[in-house]
Amino acid sequence: MARESLYRLELAIRRVLPEGFKTLWRLGRLAVQPIPPPPPPIPQAQLEGCQLLTNRIEMLRRLPQGGVIAEIGTFRGDFARAILDIMAPEKLHLADVTFSLCRTDVLADPRVEQHEGLSVPFLASRADASFDMIYVDADHGYDAVRADIAAAASKVKPGGFLVFNDFAHIIRRGFGVLGVHQAVCEFAAQSGWPVAFFCLEGEALYDIALRRPE
Ligand SMILES: C[S@@+](CC[C@H](N)C(=O)[O-])C[C@H]1O[C@@H](n2cnc3c(N)ncnc32)[C@H](O)[C@@H]1O
Repeated sequence: MARESLYRLELAIRRVLPEGFKTLWRLGRLAVQPIPPPPPPIPQAQLEGCQLLTNRIEMLRRLPQGGVIAEIGTFRGDFARAILDIMAPEKLHLADVTFSLCRTDVLADPRVEQHEGLSVPFLASRADASFDMIYVDADHGYDAVRADIAAAASKVKPGGFLVFNDFAHIIRRGFGVLGVHQAVCEFAAQSGWPVAFFCLEGEALYDIALRRPE
C-alpha cells in the first residue's frame, strides 16, 4: 500500500514537472535502475500477416467496429475521442490516475465508463476475455508496461487486440526512458501472439497491435 501511494505521488509529480526536470528525473533513475537485457526478436512468423499503416487513426478504421474497448491512459482524451468517433464501441472504459485534464465531451459520452486510479488494479478487476481491444498508453517505463501486459493479456477476448502506443526504446528529452519496446517484444516472443498492425507515427513513436489467437 505504501509502495502504491509512493507510485501515485511519483505520477502526480511527473504530471506537473517542467520537461527539463522530467528529463533529469528520468536520467537520474537510469543511473540507479538496471538496464534490462536486449529484447528477444519477434519471430518472423508472427509478422507475416502484419499490416503496415500510415498512423494509428488508420488502425482504428481497420479494427473490428463496435465492441468493448479499454484505453489505459487517457490524458486529454483526444485518442478516446477518435476511438468513439471511428470505432463506435458499445462501451469504452477509460482508466487513468486522474481525469482532471480530460475533455468533457469524452467524459460525458454515455458509452464511456471512467475508472480513476492505477491501471493494474483496474485491469485485474475485469473478467477474463471481456475486451475486444485494450489500448495501453499509460506509464511507459519497462516495469510498468510489463505489469500492464501481465494484467491485460487474459482480459482480451480470443481474436481481440492488445495495442501499445509508443513502441519505442529511447532516452530522449521530453520522453525520457521508454521500455515499451522491450516489454512488448518479450511478451510477443513468449506468447506467440501475432502482430496485426504496425502504425507509423511522427518521431518514430509507433503503435503495435498484437492479436490474441482464437
Ligand atoms: C501518454 S498519456 C495518454 C494519452 C492518450 N492515450 C492519447 O493518446 O491521447 C498517459 C496517461 O497515462 C496516465 N498514467 C500514467 N501511469 C498510469 C498508471 N500507472 N495507471 C493509470 N494511468 C496512468 C497519465 O496520467 C496520463 O494521463
